[in-house]
Order: sequence, then structure tokens, then C-alpha cells
Amino acid sequence: MKLGKKVSDLRTQYAKGSLSENEVSGNPIHQFNQWFEQAVSAEVVEPNAMSLATVRDGRPSLRIVLLKGYDEQGLVWFTNYDSKKGQELAQNPFAAITFFWPELERQVRIEGAVEKISAADSDEYYQSRDKGSRIGAWASPQSSVLSDRSALDARINQYLAQYGEAEHIPRPPHWGGYRLRPDLVEFWQGRPSRLHDRIQYSREGGLWKVVRLAP
Ligand SMILES: Cc1cc2nc3c(=O)[nH]c(=O)nc-3n(C[C@H](O)[C@H](O)[C@H](O)COP(=O)(O)O)c2cc1C
Repeated sequence: MKLGKKVSDLRTQYAKGSLSENEVSGNPIHQFNQWFEQAVSAEVVEPNAMSLATVRDGRPSLRIVLLKGYDEQGLVWFTNYDSKKGQELAQNPFAAITFFWPELERQVRIEGAVEKISAADSDEYYQSRDKGSRIGAWASPQSSVLSDRSALDARINQYLAQYGEAEHIPRPPHWGGYRLRPDLVEFWQGRPSRLHDRIQYSREGGLWKVVRLAP
């Protein structure tokens, strides 16, 4: 492999913070909440953008989605249940999530089982979206091949004709939320000389075990 010198020269010394097993919360969701709020305060670009990995037949696939809520139960995002990720989750209901907040030199990794959220909760969020997004959820057969852009435009026009003037647009049955219930969570804080801090929580017997991992 020809290594581009310019690429291999790109490196950052991380020195913005540190993280200790003695200072973190005993609960990873509380710790996540603290870091998420700090990411918002630091004006991280799209702090709720997260990489979401799913696996089918041992082959991983990865894409960005937006976190739309989190609490003690887990992390929630919305998508098309028939999409590639939806099909993968139907076959293997486990996923991994990564947040990267470069402005804070932080990464958070979360793994766990995934379930669909309730229809009522999906309805509530769907109805909060602007009309274009609600129509789009009907019109886009996410992850399917389109002959060209006009094929999508035609579908949008079809659903605009159906729902454009409607008071209430029903949620498409193929669109809704997923929740990942964390059982492994890692907080990574960049440190100088690649000697980063890594604090990992694992769920064992209903309790969270906290350990430090080597960088
Ligand atoms: C910043 C950003 C945010 C995104 N948010 C979502 C989202 O919340 N839900 C979603 O289905 N796709 C979202 N996407 C698009 C996905 O990355 C992806 O293209 C789409 O979900 C299809 O993925 P799949 O074919 O693996 O199912 C987002 C993309 C970017 C770059």
C-alpha cells in the first residue's frame, strides 16, 4: 500500500481532558447524559449523529443516524423498518453505536440488544415531524434501488396527492423507532501520546461493573 505522506502526517495531540474511574457516575446513562450535555454546550456539530453498526451473516454494515432520545431504557432513533438496517436488525437484533465528539476529544461506544419502540411512541414522534418528512417516510422505499431521481419524485407526488391536504397523515407501518438497550458502554477521552483514558461499563447480574481499559 502506498501511504500518502500527507495522510500519515495527520495527527492530533489530545490534551483537553481526562477521565477517571473514580469520577465517573456509577450509571452509564447518567455519564452519557453528562457528556451529551457537554457536547451540546461545546457546540459540537450534530452531537446526536451516531454511527450505527448492524450485522447480517457475520458481515457488518454501518451508517449514521440521529439519536432522538435516551433514558434508563436505552437510546432511540427512527428509520425505515424495511431498510437494510431494518432487515439486518430483524435477523440479528443487536447493534453497536459510536459517537465521536472531536471538539471534546471524546468517543462513546455503546452495544446492546435492539427492539422496536411502541407504536404509540413512534406515532407521537412521526406526528411531530414536518409535513415534507412525513410524506418522505411514505415515499422513500429506503435502501431499495431507484431507477433515477425522478422515480423518487414521482412517488413523492403520488403521496402528496394522497396526503398533501390531509389534516392527519398516518404513520407508515414500515417507519418507526428502535431502542438499543445498552449492556456495554465505553467512554473514551483522548490523552497525550495516545495514552487515552477508557472507562468501560458492562452489565452483569443487573449491576454495572466499571473497569479501565488499556488505550
Ligand atoms: C448526519 C446524518 C443523519 C442521518 N440520520 C438518519 C436517521 O436518523 N435515520 C435514518 O434512517 N437515516 C439517517 N441517515 C441516513 C443513513 O445514514 C442511511 O443512509 C440510511 O438510513 C439507509 O441506511 P441502510 O441502507 O443501511 O438502512 C442519516 C445520515 C446522516 C449523514
